[in-house]
Amino acid sequence: MNKSRSGSQVMLGLIGMIRPLITVMLVAIFMGCIGNLMAIFITVLGGMGIGNVLGIDRTMSLTTIFVLAIICAVLRGILRYAEQASNHYIAFKLLASIRHQIFSALRKLAPAKLDGKEKGNLISIITSDIELLEVFYAHTISPIAIAVLTSIVMVIFIGRYHWLLGAIALFFYIIVGAVIPIINSKAGQKYGQKYRKLYGNLNTTVLDNLYGLDEILQYGKENDRKEKMDKFTDELEEVNDKLKQQEGRQRVSTDIVILLAGVVMLLASAALVPAGETIICTIAMMSSFGPTGALSALSNNLNQTLASGNRVLNLLEEEPVVAEVESNVSVPKGELKLSDVTFGYPNAEKNILENFSLQIEENTIHGILGESGCGKSTILKLLMRFYETKEGQVLFGNQNVNEIDTKQLRKQIAYVTQETFLFEDTIENNIKIAKADATREEVIEAAKKASLHEFILSLPLGYDTKLAELGDSVSGGERQRIGIARAFLHDAPIILLDEPTSNIDSLNEGIILKTLLEEKENKTIILVSHRKSTMSIADKVSRM
Ligand SMILES: Nc1ncnc2c1ncn2[C@@H]1O[C@H](COP(=O)(O)OP(=O)(O)O)[C@@H](O)[C@H]1O
Ligand SMILES: [Mg+2]
Repeated sequence: MNKSRSGSQVMLGLIGMIRPLITVMLVAIFMGCIGNLMAIFITVLGGMGIGNVLGIDRTMSLTTIFVLAIICAVLRGILRYAEQASNHYIAFKLLASIRHQIFSALRKLAPAKLDGKEKGNLISIITSDIELLEVFYAHTISPIAIAVLTSIVMVIFIGRYHWLLGAIALFFYIIVGAVIPIINSKAGQKYGQKYRKLYGNLNTTVLDNLYGLDEILQYGKENDRKEKMDKFTDELEEVNDKLKQQEGRQRVSTDIVILLAGVVMLLASAALVPAGETIICTIAMMSSFGPTGALSALSNNLNQTLASGNRVLNLLEEEPVVAEVESNVSVPKGELKLSDVTFGYPNAEKNILENFSLQIEENTIHGILGESGCGKSTILKLLMRFYETKEGQVLFGNQNVNEIDTKQLRKQIAYVTQETFLFEDTIENNIKIAKADATREEVIEAAKKASLHEFILSLPLGYDTKLAELGDSVSGGERQRIGIARAFLHDAPIILLDEPTSNIDSLNEGIILKTLLEEKENKTIILVSHRKSTMSIADKVSRM
């Protein structure tokens, strides 16, 4: 889903997540307001001191002014710290919660979503996009509230001397805190989005280079890859330059407006109020642009932050391709059937299966043989209900798969995919994914069945050996056997094996096939392969 929201819609969506932390946010805003006012009044008190020495303003004695200034300074420090601490508390609490939400959204969206080519995009949402929201939660929401509140107080403070002076202050606060940021973020929008996109491309290229290092070296593609990286880096630098120029313009215009505000206030107050008050009003004006100036600076990053926010919200709202079924129907015993099934992948024009039927008897080994691309893996995905059929039914013992509780269904099936993913963990834990509370003995037994035990014993730390990053320390065949060991440990009544022995030599294949033959007594096993030798153990073979 690629819904694009306006900036304010994204903001509202992101602010909506704050609800549980609203009190902390109010505390942060309160501290921020008082803290900023303290900072402003240190300077204003300085002005009063000068007025006192010059003999044009005697409202307070020098000692009082001095003591008040020290109190303001100390409070300013403490309040600033408290404000920042509360804001970052909120930000990191929320980031943690958003990561949880994204993960559970992914859990629902996964198999189908992760099947496609959007993996790279998802990775950038999970990593950098969520990270960027820190800026929003810690440095955007409360600064806006603080700027508004502090400016209101200052308008009243200055307006007490003369209403026209208050109006002048209001005018300049609006220019610095609203007009400049809005113009700036409109102007920078294009570059901000481009920057994020290029940054994503560069990330993907770097990852590709890492994962594909062997292929790059083998086919002598070092220069091509380097040129590609250089191209992205150059483009990124160009856009970055543009962003920096924009930032420069924002700074200069903000500074000019602040200076102008001082001059206008000086002239107007000189004409309207006594000399001592002129000093106070002018100093109050000049020194009170901290909060609004911060908003102006914030607008440089806001586009990127909101673009990230938009992507995160999209992912949270995305509907899964297939909704999980929650019911109390579990998987009944009996044959598995595909009955007149028509299926095509979402967004693909062509159907992979047309009026396809298949019947698999209980407690048998059923082979599915066919050329690459004919839809063998797809059948297994339909049985797992990763996708729904367009027409026709998938049945477990006459029970439609769409009525069976999806969690139950997947618990009852051990599914060995064509790619076994290995986690960076010990080999024992990698097998135990299939059954968290398995004992060492159970793990060893599963490993033996998958013809993996001898290999594991040859590793330096046996079952406690860690698998290295990217899993490169393990061969394709070993990887596959770990996947098969998981399936044996999972001990489900239905086993789906997708080309389980494609990378395994005939000796090990023999051992695994023999185990399967022993298991079939009380298990229904579907064996997908394009190799005839693998099919020798099947009770029945369907050709596609
Ligand atoms: N997630 C997907 N989205 C779109 N098309 C897919 C997807 N997965 C597989 N296909 C296509 O469906 C066809 C059948 O794939 P598959 O069932 O994996 O074949 P195989 O018989 O080799 O296991 C292939 O043409 C493949 O490109
Ligand atoms: Mg396949």
